[in-house]
Amino acid sequence: MPYTRASIHGDLTKLRSGASGLGNPACGLSITLPVNDALTTDQISHLIDAATDRPGDDPIFSLNSEAKARAAAGEDILNATIGALMEDDGRLCVMPAVFTAYASVPPTKAAAYAPIAGDPPFLRAVIEDTFGAPTSKPGTLSAHSVAVATAGGTGALHHAIVNFLDPGQALLTTEYFWTPYKIIANHTRRAVETFEMFDESGRFNLKAFEESLTWSISRQGRALVIFNFPCHNPTGYSLDDEEWAGVANIVREAGRQAPVAFLNDLAYARYGREGSESWIQHLDTMAETAVVLVAWSASKTFAQYGARIGALVALANDADERERIANAISFSCRGTWSNCNHLGLLAITELLTNAELRQRVDAERAGLIRDLGARVEVFNREAEALGLVYPRYEGGFFVSLFTPDAELTAATMRAEGVYIVPMKGAVRVALCSTPTPAIPRLVAALKRGIDAAVDAARASGDTTSK
Ligand SMILES: Cc1ncc(COP(=O)(O)O)c(C=O)c1O
Repeated sequence: MPYTRASIHGDLTKLRSGASGLGNPACGLSITLPVNDALTTDQISHLIDAATDRPGDDPIFSLNSEAKARAAAGEDILNATIGALMEDDGRLCVMPAVFTAYASVPPTKAAAYAPIAGDPPFLRAVIEDTFGAPTSKPGTLSAHSVAVATAGGTGALHHAIVNFLDPGQALLTTEYFWTPYKIIANHTRRAVETFEMFDESGRFNLKAFEESLTWSISRQGRALVIFNFPCHNPTGYSLDDEEWAGVANIVREAGRQAPVAFLNDLAYARYGREGSESWIQHLDTMAETAVVLVAWSASKTFAQYGARIGALVALANDADERERIANAISFSCRGTWSNCNHLGLLAITELLTNAELRQRVDAERAGLIRDLGARVEVFNREAEALGLVYPRYEGGFFVSLFTPDAELTAATMRAEGVYIVPMKGAVRVALCSTPTPAIPRLVAALKRGIDAAVDAARASGDTTSK
């Protein structure tokens, strides 16, 4: 009988435990596994069990590839899957001032290794970009913060997960979330738990958040919360001031029970509506008992997805704790990518600290935000006219629409050449990559896709689908 992976695993376990009668390998007995000519590579893998069945491609990138292949074959395809800001003519939006900053970096500096934690001027600039200068009112937060440079916001999330959760523990996030949270967690032997994101009135579900956080703490003795506001991916939702105040109180109270780290992923924050940075006013409250983390990223902020520049900022009131955190997250840099892209770090520092360049890049971003805002307006108008149900959407790259069967909705839309991303209970639409004139087609396809799912649910006896 040929060996299968399972039978080899079973035999090894028996041998190691001594149950085979051969004894414990640690006592010096040498063990030779039976050689079997029938052992073939399609039956066993050299990978560890956890790694054998991993998907090689991100589902969103797979959908994008399919959409591109159909477009290349001549079909009229509308691809609203990809989370990068595109011009109406399909070109990637860029900010020219960023390239002026790149050009200003001396080659001998760009080519040298960056310090492991990132250049101190970069770290200072990122902290002040997040919380304001130490002399300003919210700037006291800056004075209580440390940071390291990371490979994009993704790197910051990784470092938070491995330093604020033990293996086997779960981070807590909203029921709709950016799926790489789960990939990073699984890859590092952690998990993801979620709570219901919206209440019956469509507002952020503070009660569900509080209950889940309490449960997390009672089960694992600590908690790492990951939020992504303003401009949440995938729903597009931004918390208002009242919701932030509620969140801050809940985090402060939870922090009295156990170590709590609250991370806000700022991937799309620069694209929020005016006033959406008011969340910072609530950090004092959280920081009374909790550590506040920020995943800062240049990817969307400077339309530099490929530069892989980000930072993990940690706000902690206690100086000793700050030092421990700074050491731990710097250690994680060394234990993963060592040093970040130095040209990118130096150019982004220039953009954040050189007054003239900063003014230019801010103006360029304002133009992009205006264009995206115009799309959001058209979308809201068209979607409301067709009675589509979705969370409050005031800006940002994405919006999600509820459906009883996301796969069926997506398949119905793909049949008419429109690509969106199905998730559990909703589909994600990337307005950032949808040309403004194509929005009416997108919304009409959404309507048909969601109607198909509702009809199917009704036919199967689900009376809750509207
Ligand atoms: C919600 C969210 N967080 C974090 C990231 C990380 O982006 P990056 O690693 O490019 O900074 C993304 C990118 O798409 C995102 O959508």
